[in-house]
Amino acid sequence: MIGWNPDPEVTLAIEFRSVTKQFPDGTLAVDDFSLVIPAHRTTVFVGSSGCGKTTLLRMINRLVEPSSGVISIDGEPITTGDPVKLRRGIGYVMQNSGLLPHFSVVDNVATVPVLSGVPRAQARARALELLDVVGLDRSLATRYPRQLSGGQQQRVGVARGLAADPHILLMDEPFGAVDPIVRKELQAETSRLQRDLDKTVVFVTHDIDEAFLLGDQVVILEKGAKIAQVGSPSEILENPASDFVADFIGSERGARALHLKDTARGQVLVDSDGRTQGVLVPGQADAVGAGAGGAGVGVGGVGAAGVGAGGGGEKAGP
Ligand SMILES: Nc1ncnc2c1ncn2[C@@H]1O[C@H](COP(=O)(O)OP(=O)(O)OP(=O)(O)O)[C@@H](O)[C@H]1O
Ligand SMILES: [Mg+2]
Repeated sequence: MIGWNPDPEVTLAIEFRSVTKQFPDGTLAVDDFSLVIPAHRTTVFVGSSGCGKTTLLRMINRLVEPSSGVISIDGEPITTGDPVKLRRGIGYVMQNSGLLPHFSVVDNVATVPVLSGVPRAQARARALELLDVVGLDRSLATRYPRQLSGGQQQRVGVARGLAADPHILLMDEPFGAVDPIVRKELQAETSRLQRDLDKTVVFVTHDIDEAFLLGDQVVILEKGAKIAQVGSPSEILENPASDFVADFIGSERGARALHLKDTARGQVLVDSDGRTQGVLVPGQADAVGAGAGGAGVGVGGVGAAGVGAGGGGEKAGP
């Protein structure tokens, strides 16, 4: 089944070919979008509110159907199978966590496996393990979402996205609702999870710093999901493709514009106050290059590199 491939050796890549989405009221949310999303890497869609990010993401799991064009996973159009099965095989972390209010934490995490036929006891046992994975204490398992902080709810949302052990994980502004310090913690943990779990992640944000920290491939979008630039963080930082991109990465980052600096450990991402924001580690050039023609540099080691260090000076975001 597409998106649910038990063989970890199989490389799943997502491809958009001339995909357009026009809603019935005439809104052209996505206008002729084409992109290859490499497997086992994190691709980040970044752009202003309303530019079409959520629509792009929801077309991957068929919560939204394109008006025209083709989306395929590992070469197979996603329209060939059953959309419900497709969705159960793709992890989805919704904008604003999307937890079910009348389900306990453990049952929220276990929902999708139970729907897919995993016995409830087994699904709950796995859900408890996933709480460990996302850094939540198991004592929270019996609480309801309203009894959690915003950051805890977002971690539960991530655990739920991981519950079916999908090869593909879609994350829609998963840290939008938390304060900057918790956000840094969640970003660092996401970065660690990416390294440990080796998923194909498609991550949506309007925060360019978050995009550069988490993305192997960053896609900067204009209205209508028009691609302003696609590339690795270092490619975009070093060679913005247009004034729009230069403005976007400049103004969004305000006074603490990020730049690259060579150190004994390799290239690091430093802000204008000289604080290290992340470490650029060599990726697999061919994988990232599939979509970006890129140099294959990704951001990793964020936790170790001191994200969160000096977080007190952090801006609250746009
Ligand atoms: N069901 C719908 N019917 C009509 N228009 C829609 C619908 N869903 C989204 N849109 C419109 O499509 C455009 C893209 O919306 P989308 O939700 O993809 O943006 P986004 O980039 O995720 O924005 P945000 O950062 O605010 O979440 C917007 O103009 C939005 O108003
Ligand atoms: Mg959105």
